[in-house]
Amino acid sequence: MTTRTVTPRALAIEGGTPTRTAPWPTYDKGDRLLGEAEEAAAVRVIRSRRLFRYDTRPHTETEVGRFEERFRGFCGSAGALAVSSGTTALALALMAAGIGPGSRVACPVFTFAATPSAILLAGAEPVLVPVDENLHIDLDALAKTVSHVDAVMAVHMRGAAEDMDAIVALADQAGVPVFEDAVPAMGVRLRARQLGTFGLAGAFSTQSDKSINTGEGGILVSDDLGLVARAAVLSGAYEGRVRRHFATAELDDLALPLYSFRMDELRGALAAAQLDSLPLRLERLSTNYTRISGELSGLEGIRVRRPIEGAILGDALLLMIESGAATDAEWFARALRAEGIDARAFGDPTDRNVRAFWNWRFLGKDTDGPNGPLASSVRHVARTVDIPLSASMDEQDCADLVSAVRLVAHHLPSARTLA
Ligand SMILES: Cc1ncc(COP(=O)(O)O)c(C=O)c1O
Repeated sequence: MTTRTVTPRALAIEGGTPTRTAPWPTYDKGDRLLGEAEEAAAVRVIRSRRLFRYDTRPHTETEVGRFEERFRGFCGSAGALAVSSGTTALALALMAAGIGPGSRVACPVFTFAATPSAILLAGAEPVLVPVDENLHIDLDALAKTVSHVDAVMAVHMRGAAEDMDAIVALADQAGVPVFEDAVPAMGVRLRARQLGTFGLAGAFSTQSDKSINTGEGGILVSDDLGLVARAAVLSGAYEGRVRRHFATAELDDLALPLYSFRMDELRGALAAAQLDSLPLRLERLSTNYTRISGELSGLEGIRVRRPIEGAILGDALLLMIESGAATDAEWFARALRAEGIDARAFGDPTDRNVRAFWNWRFLGKDTDGPNGPLASSVRHVARTVDIPLSASMDEQDCADLVSAVRLVAHHLPSARTLA
């Protein structure tokens, strides 16, 4: 018989008073953390009348060029290229490395639909690899797959680092390059190294709910300057403009197509302004996440996703429902929403969530056969509840979240039957 604390409060989903009525702070509800620095940057660009990165100015005098230089330094990489989105940054990295039509790229099933989409954009075929109970790539499965692919795309989904040393070691044995979808993890360090810098190239996004918010945007980093130069041409550095990045670039730029995935000056200026406040945002996310996940550890019936060596951004809280039942996860998310907390169950069939890989019909193949190789991944993803955490969360927001999760966990249908 399990002893549990008696909670007098009724659930809002069952007619009780909600934990909170204030909107949960997420970027699409007005939470933006944009201030005077961003306003000044945007006004400066508009007043300059120079919105295109490749006008007559040298690279280091453009907004995008300055952002690239600073971001490169932030990551400790040799080269950086700012582009139109995280997806195009990923696709350009692959294309610039010669991964295209006829190539197969392994990627974990737990990711945003943009990861396999970027592989398709490069002309290659995504090969889905199962994930373990913490939604990290299953290393045994990767070991079996890696010799049948041309590249591996690691994904730090929901800001949680993958075990990059293990992934790189497996890929090295098979002689294939590793790319990092670090879109959700800008600024996260694993073993004292920035995520996105472990493989041949890493990609980030500056879309609105990322560590840096320019509405849309992305940036790739690599120590391979030839790769960055080819990516620059592919992104639209035409008629020799690639030499503004790399004066000595030795490449026939007319041999590469131009896809116009460039970043513009307004976004470059906004992104650079936000690099100044990035450490503060990272610190806030980390402090809130540490507090919340600590206060929710040891709770019966649910488990907080375990990050590798604590390397996680902290902009999302993933709760695994121990019973493993997708219906419990759906109920849990619904009950949290009624308490005033944004929450989604990845496996909710009424929610066409693009993070649930069985919804990726664009791949044109069955990804969720009940006895297929991905069946255990379906269970791991489907029992997970996803809660956005903003850097602007205050003490009250954190306290509300902890209290609501505890309350809902107390009433969890599968836990009730244990009591
Ligand atoms: C894991 C992952 N990869 C790629 C992307 C795509 O980034 P963007 O929207 O900038 O193209 C996202 C977007 O959220 C993502 O979560």
